[in-house]
Amino acid sequence: MKSLILAAISACALCIGCTSSPKSIGVIPIPQHVAITNGNFHLGQQTGLNIEAPEADKTALQNFIEASPIAHIAKTSKPSNSVNLFIVDCLPEITSPEGYRMTVNEATINIEATAGAGLFYGLQTLLQLIDDSDNIPQGVISDEPRFDYRGMMIDVSRHFFSVDFIKKQIDAMAYFKFNHLHLHLTDAAGWRIEIKKYPELTRQAAWRTHPTWKEWWNAERHYSIEGSPDAHGGYYTQEQIRDLVAYAQERFITIIPEIEMPSHSEEVLAVYPELSCSGSPYKDCDFCIGNEQTFTFLQNVLTEVMQLFPSKYIHIGGDEASKQAWATCPKCLSRMKNEKLANVDELQSYLIHRIEGFLNANGRNLIGWDEILDGGLAPNATVMSWRGAEGGIQAIEAGHRAIMTPGEFCYLDAYQDAPHTQPEAIGGYLPLKKVYSYDPLPDSISPEQAHLLYGVQGNLFAEYIPTEQHMEYMMYPRMLAIAEIAWSNPEVMNYDDFRARAVVATNRLNQWGYNSFNLLNEVGNRPGSETSIEHLASGKKVTYATNAPYSAKYTAGGDSALVDGKLGGWTYGDKRWQGFSNSTGIDATIDLETLTELHSINADFMQICGPWVFMPTQVIISASTDGKNFTELTRIDHEIIRDDAVSFKTFGWEGLAQARYVRYQAIPGELGGFLFLDEIIIK
Ligand code: ACM
Repeated sequence: MKSLILAAISACALCIGCTSSPKSIGVIPIPQHVAITNGNFHLGQQTGLNIEAPEADKTALQNFIEASPIAHIAKTSKPSNSVNLFIVDCLPEITSPEGYRMTVNEATINIEATAGAGLFYGLQTLLQLIDDSDNIPQGVISDEPRFDYRGMMIDVSRHFFSVDFIKKQIDAMAYFKFNHLHLHLTDAAGWRIEIKKYPELTRQAAWRTHPTWKEWWNAERHYSIEGSPDAHGGYYTQEQIRDLVAYAQERFITIIPEIEMPSHSEEVLAVYPELSCSGSPYKDCDFCIGNEQTFTFLQNVLTEVMQLFPSKYIHIGGDEASKQAWATCPKCLSRMKNEKLANVDELQSYLIHRIEGFLNANGRNLIGWDEILDGGLAPNATVMSWRGAEGGIQAIEAGHRAIMTPGEFCYLDAYQDAPHTQPEAIGGYLPLKKVYSYDPLPDSISPEQAHLLYGVQGNLFAEYIPTEQHMEYMMYPRMLAIAEIAWSNPEVMNYDDFRARAVVATNRLNQWGYNSFNLLNEVGNRPGSETSIEHLASGKKVTYATNAPYSAKYTAGGDSALVDGKLGGWTYGDKRWQGFSNSTGIDATIDLETLTELHSINADFMQICGPWVFMPTQVIISASTDGKNFTELTRIDHEIIRDDAVSFKTFGWEGLAQARYVRYQAIPGELGGFLFLDEIIIK
């Protein structure tokens, strides 16, 4: 933190005293109310510090300041001016204990809040406001968060990240006013927390045969023994966890541990195969819910987890269970019969209900990914909505709390810029602007229900992120956009202004040793994908062969998608690419309505092998005057090459022809998966 605050003092950029608009101050997240007047407070060597707060808060604030280069303000004996932090009974304009009012005049900076958290956030604003000359503009800022929950999730399973790295991110999170760090501690790729009762979890399941997730995933997916030459991975000891929790607590951040169940548990079942339906290692991903030992194991693990993490919430995963083995497992079937569970969804729900009961009995609450809705939501559960906003909305409508983290806006593992300019990512395209455009409060939620929307979180899954430097590259600056959508009201937000502040902030982060993506190098979306084009087929009728329909999941708007003038962006998931199952291919015919002179017919395909999106192996383009008898204009063969790149290729024809109907066929290769094209452009 020392370096972070030091740099804040020397490097903050601020438009001092030039306007009272909140958009002119270089603070992220932008405060709710800002009134800057003329003049400055100078934070000099004789500046003093007073803190009036309950002992625990006072100690945390004092420690925070004393570990920083403005430490001298805590020690000055004869102050010429002072920074005063004090707790007040109430602040009329502020309702949140995390809110604060900062009043700056020539001689004093007063930060008032009703709780220590508010003072801490006022202090973060102060740090961001100090300019190159150690001045702070005079005026009043009153500020409080829009949402109580402002989170970041870091996946330490797919690749293991050190305690120091996590602390470094906690520093930045505090600086941008996050209050929850969700650690994805367990998954197939590695178990990352010492559990005294089950030493094999860290002796074996924390180590794997390959250093990168990708190599391991594409190999046998086996685990190793700690200390053996082929052991790659790591885990946090209980002592390290306690240290991390305390470090976060002093920065008003709660760490929420995630222990995955009933699925994403290959690593556990490899070393404790008796907890799986098959009873054999390397077969299952889901715990056997029919087996009482599963509950004994999970409760024993959670008991140690609760001893380490004081967080009110414990995340139990709950996502993406295969549920396949349960359907034929005698123990699961017997459980279903005895508990009168209609199907495997209800079996999963049975586990979640039982685990929730256990957590509640221990004074904790359960959070799960939105699949915990399947088969019936446990009574007090909070839903983390990742497959869209729907799960969160459903939870809120049923009277539960929800945290929004939809993949489309909040998954920072997607490409943040043109894929060919970026290190390999899992796919997708999520630039800063799109993160910033997300409003976590859905229109359908009534004002009466809005309090159930607990907040918003950015997620950083790490399958394709093998190093700490790369992790930071993916995190910054997009985490700053999450910070602002979580804290600031939409009325004070503006993307262009935010982007300018983010450029300054990321420069600052990089000076402090972070590895942010450089926004000034941003290429942006695929050319043409944010506007629309006109051509001879625009708006014409497209008929799809009945044996080659487009995918119900990737309609891109339906029958008009291939002639709607909308070119696709860097991801097939942007609703501008139409998807076809590779088992059917594409066979679409466009009726141009009149006999037309044709010069070119082109369509772009995209390929990204990770999610099984491939180029076609052959494209056939034909034309007809009557819609019955077609003449082949071209037949293009293509060799599909599996590689790591996200690639785009035009398959087309150029020449001269007269026709009313154009037929475009794409033949899939043998790999399965999907074909995606965006527009059949006819000129
Ligand atoms: C998730 O991304 N499977 C929560």
